[in-house]
Amino acid sequence: MIDTQLKEVTSFKRKEKKTLRQITHPVSDDLSEFRTFYKKALRTDVFVLDQIVQYLLRQKGKEIRPTLVFMSARLFGDVTQRSYVAATMIELLHTATLIHDDVVDDAEVRRGFLSINKVWKNKASVLLGDFLLSKGLLIALDYDEFKLLKVLSRAVKSMSEGELRQFKAARLFNMDEDYYFKVISEKTASLIAACCECGAISTSDDPTHHQKMHDIGMYTGIAFQIRDDLFDYGVGDIGKPTRNDIRERKVTLPFIKALDNATVTETIRIRYLMRKRNKSQSDIDNIVSFVHEKGGMEYARSIMDNYAGKALSKLSTLPESEDRQAFEDLIEFIIRRKK
Ligand code: IPE
Ligand code: IPE
Ligand code: MG
Ligand code: MG
Repeated sequence: MIDTQLKEVTSFKRKEKKTLRQITHPVSDDLSEFRTFYKKALRTDVFVLDQIVQYLLRQKGKEIRPTLVFMSARLFGDVTQRSYVAATMIELLHTATLIHDDVVDDAEVRRGFLSINKVWKNKASVLLGDFLLSKGLLIALDYDEFKLLKVLSRAVKSMSEGELRQFKAARLFNMDEDYYFKVISEKTASLIAACCECGAISTSDDPTHHQKMHDIGMYTGIAFQIRDDLFDYGVGDIGKPTRNDIRERKVTLPFIKALDNATVTETIRIRYLMRKRNKSQSDIDNIVSFVHEKGGMEYARSIMDNYAGKALSKLSTLPESEDRQAFEDLIEFIIRRKK
């Protein structure tokens, strides 16, 4: 166990990397404008809702999605009001799905704070998530942005399908690699693809640009979710619980691969442990060590790197520029990030 932990730590230290703040420097003005938009969108005169919204606003996420909108937009022209509308819609939709996701996953911590479902319980969380989701889509109508509405409504539908597909797989325990990619493409990559596509839509009328950015977002989003799934088996404070996937019987790539590499006896033992509803600390430790020992982490990292590579190679078909460099750095950050 100690060995694998060390490996995880040293693999991060390969070279000194740019921080997210450094990478997002070119879009820092766009992001601060976006924050004003975002806060305004969350205004409500329902007292209890406002209380929760104030709590929510104190816990900023990494803002990767709005950053992707602006970086994609800049590849084709100057950021427009449309870019701000897209970024705001997307961060609202993303936050709504996180709030719902924490109910589904019974998670206790989000962005380093107690999750909404732990403070206000599941019922309020579902309602707040609905509020954000509807606000997110309605903004498009306020600005007559039907194209954005179309792209983002599709992404939201896909995200729900992915979450449901995953939920079904957790119950039936029939997750394999193909199914895993389907789930993460839907639940995570679809929105990241929409970020890049909407960014491009906001500054270019060329459908080939939209499609190209969609594809880059899809690859980036898959890499993003694999990075997230690796966290669950890793060490370190990521601002949300680790081992929760294991507790919730959520089968992800490192686990799927480890099972592929196991003997029949090991498979029976580990599947039994994973299936248990109330796992002891030692059950969890057993599963984690198994995944590390059977090469699940290395494999998932290599697949993640492949997807990031695909995104970078598609990006390289666009003209070289500082904006493209920033985008490349962001993809690199997504797969090397520590939270
Ligand atoms: C978390 O997304 C949900 C996943 C798709 C794994 P982020 O890691 O972007 O969450 P925040 O917004 O920074 O909190
Ligand atoms: C991503 O899956 C959730 C959404 C796309 C809403 P996870 O369940 O792995 O996300 P975290 O780890 O809770 O952020
Ligand atoms: Mg979750
Ligand atoms: Mg996760």
